[in-house]
Amino acid sequence: MKIAPCRQFSGEFIIPGDKSITHRAVMFNAAAEGEALVTNALLGEDCLSTASCMRALGAEVAVEGNCIRVKGTRRFRSADLYCGNSGTTMRLLMGLVSGRGVNARLTGDDSLSRRPMERVAAPLRILGADIRTQNGCAPVEIVAARLCGARVDTKVASAQVKSAVILAALGATGETLVHEDIKTRDHTERMLAAMGADIRVAGTDVFVGESELTAMDVEVPGDISSAAYFLALGALRGEVLCKNVGVNPTRTGILEAFSRMNVRYSLENERTVCGEPVADIRVRKSDLKAIELSREIMPALIDELPVIALLCAFAEGESRITGAEELKVKESDRIRTTAELINGLGGDCTPTDDGFIIRGRESLRGGSVQPHGDHRIAMSGAIGLAASERGGEIFGAECADISFPNFYEMLCAHFFF
Ligand code: S3P
Repeated sequence: MKIAPCRQFSGEFIIPGDKSITHRAVMFNAAAEGEALVTNALLGEDCLSTASCMRALGAEVAVEGNCIRVKGTRRFRSADLYCGNSGTTMRLLMGLVSGRGVNARLTGDDSLSRRPMERVAAPLRILGADIRTQNGCAPVEIVAARLCGARVDTKVASAQVKSAVILAALGATGETLVHEDIKTRDHTERMLAAMGADIRVAGTDVFVGESELTAMDVEVPGDISSAAYFLALGALRGEVLCKNVGVNPTRTGILEAFSRMNVRYSLENERTVCGEPVADIRVRKSDLKAIELSREIMPALIDELPVIALLCAFAEGESRITGAEELKVKESDRIRTTAELINGLGGDCTPTDDGFIIRGRESLRGGSVQPHGDHRIAMSGAIGLAASERGGEIFGAECADISFPNFYEMLCAHFFF
């Protein structure tokens, strides 16, 4: 995929549905009594992996346009579950399946098979799950077991780990308390509460009792993690309005980073849709300043860090990002692949054990981008090339389909040369 440099980037965008919320809407409705329609669903490969796993477990899941119709089942059947590239599918299903008294074997592609799964299996065992990993990774084997509520303190700030324990707790006798030190995204808690689960949130504690779920239609807001690429290019090259974007406070770390970087942005048309805050986000071309970001903010912007780091490469001064070691266990080692991306375009980024040091430049030369199969590196690369002097090419650019089908078409349609 060749990306030409663009002088100006302006336009209005309707951002595809949120990946985290689509996964949950399909998965939870597939485990509920009744039928539901998920509208504005993201039909990226990851969410389709969730859909096919839920079919294998016995639910009816049908794609209709950009909606997904789900007819749930309270009784899963034992199954082999192929999760593709999707960490959310595998980790949330480890919890959900453990609480349902069936056997399952979960596998994934090469990238997913290298990612840590003991972080989920270990807390599930505290509830009594019979679950095995291989050297800490997939394949994951689950054998039917009775679960009992317990207190679980999560060891990593991960919404996937928290969600897995909450989902297992729905099928456990007695109460479970999940405690995390830093609050992570809370889409699971919001959606389960709306579907009738016995769940209560008190700060960073979540209390869950044994529950049955009732199907619920979900209108999925646009994904702020997908909007991030257009917003970033808007800050460098023009004016951008991203419409209908989820602005759940556990996801808006990028807006806090924008404020600190001097990016001119505003939220318009703020409202609540299906229990999730939603707004239109406008960004205007800005003079960027270097920033420091540390551990507490990481869960709220973890998926946006590659593109935020790229913006830092255009900011005045030296930016420091720390406490971001979770990046090493994403679809690629994003500390390494983000630094390689920025340096490959002519920037100056030093990877560290837990983040980056980025010395900003007025412009980047351009060049080639190797995403290593990682959708967020490919899309960040496209933004870097568009904002560079000469542009360049992305190898294996199609991995963007994991979370954002039609990304390049939407992007390039708004270039002015
Ligand atoms: C997700 C949580 C985050 C995020 C991932 C989606 C979710 O992962 O990086 O893209 O839907 O719960 P962790 O919870 O492992 O940090």
